[in-house]
Amino acid sequence: MNPQSASAARAAIPAIPQAFSRRDLVSTRDLGPSGVRAVLHLARIMKSRPAAFSRALAGKQTVMFFEKPSLRTRLTFESGIASLGGTSFFVDQTQARLDARETVRDIAHNLERWFDAIVLRTFTQTTIESMAEHASIPVINALSDLEHPCQALADYFTLAERFGELRSITLAYVGDGNNVAHSLLLTAACLGSSLRLAHPPGYGPDREILGDAEELAQSTGAKLELMSDPRTAVCGADAVYTDAWASMGQEQESGERGQIFAPYQVSAELMAHAAPHAVFMHCLPAHRGCEVTDAVMDCERSLIFEQAENRLHVQKAVLHLLLASGTRLPVRSAHA
Ligand code: CP
Ligand code: NVA
Repeated sequence: MNPQSASAARAAIPAIPQAFSRRDLVSTRDLGPSGVRAVLHLARIMKSRPAAFSRALAGKQTVMFFEKPSLRTRLTFESGIASLGGTSFFVDQTQARLDARETVRDIAHNLERWFDAIVLRTFTQTTIESMAEHASIPVINALSDLEHPCQALADYFTLAERFGELRSITLAYVGDGNNVAHSLLLTAACLGSSLRLAHPPGYGPDREILGDAEELAQSTGAKLELMSDPRTAVCGADAVYTDAWASMGQEQESGERGQIFAPYQVSAELMAHAAPHAVFMHCLPAHRGCEVTDAVMDCERSLIFEQAENRLHVQKAVLHLLLASGTRLPVRSAHA
């Protein structure tokens, strides 16, 4: 793009909302209803005009520590940061926990001297919370055992592209009350959307997350329902979503979970209970033949690769809101 058309594209960008009441994305709860809407709004602009943002993170450096494997999250952050003119550094942390060699607090006080943002994929949510508490630069949750906020933002962005108004649709989540389910609950609650979650007894969502989602839902009009019967959950739904029965870190439970969750497989037969226009969603990676059949994964109503693409646009919006418009906070002198 020549300089003239780049400046014309920039001039055409609508006002960028100030989304975050705090400077981290540790939990969807950090965004709240206005923050979630701001991310989706900016992601839509950035997806339609990527060239206008090609210098948005110029001079900014981001470090990514991942304690668990990743395809989508790693590559969409790396590609997204590069497309905004920033630089990223990836640290493979899969061989030892982040705090095995030194405390998270000491790591935070190192990183804030060199970088402008930290992206973390960890086992415990407390690792991310601790980093955010001690680092003076933004911290983004790229998945923990408790939450996967960027995933759910991309999922609701994908639903908005398909259906427009999110207040009038129902998402049926069938399976484990895990990190993805938690973030979907919180995001649906922020958006005033309806979500039904069907899970086997003993595998429901975390009580605190559910309580927070229900509190948010009271202010937005969202409808959140938990149940055990997958057919009841899916009945007339606009979208059917599932995720792994055994998440990363639960591999040793795969056999037992495979038996418990078998009635929750998303098959063509289960999809037939949803609305005729219903779409299928999965955060990926999928375990074909377990939580979902090949026929559903590969059917024309499957949005799985749209979801994967939209991770890129949504995370670019998150990075822009956290990094591009604000100035870097000074490093605290007292290491509290
Ligand atoms: N959906 C998702 O987070 O994929 P990865 O584990 O490959 O990053
Ligand atoms: N619940 C899954 C999501 C993977 C993106 C896990 O944590 O392994």
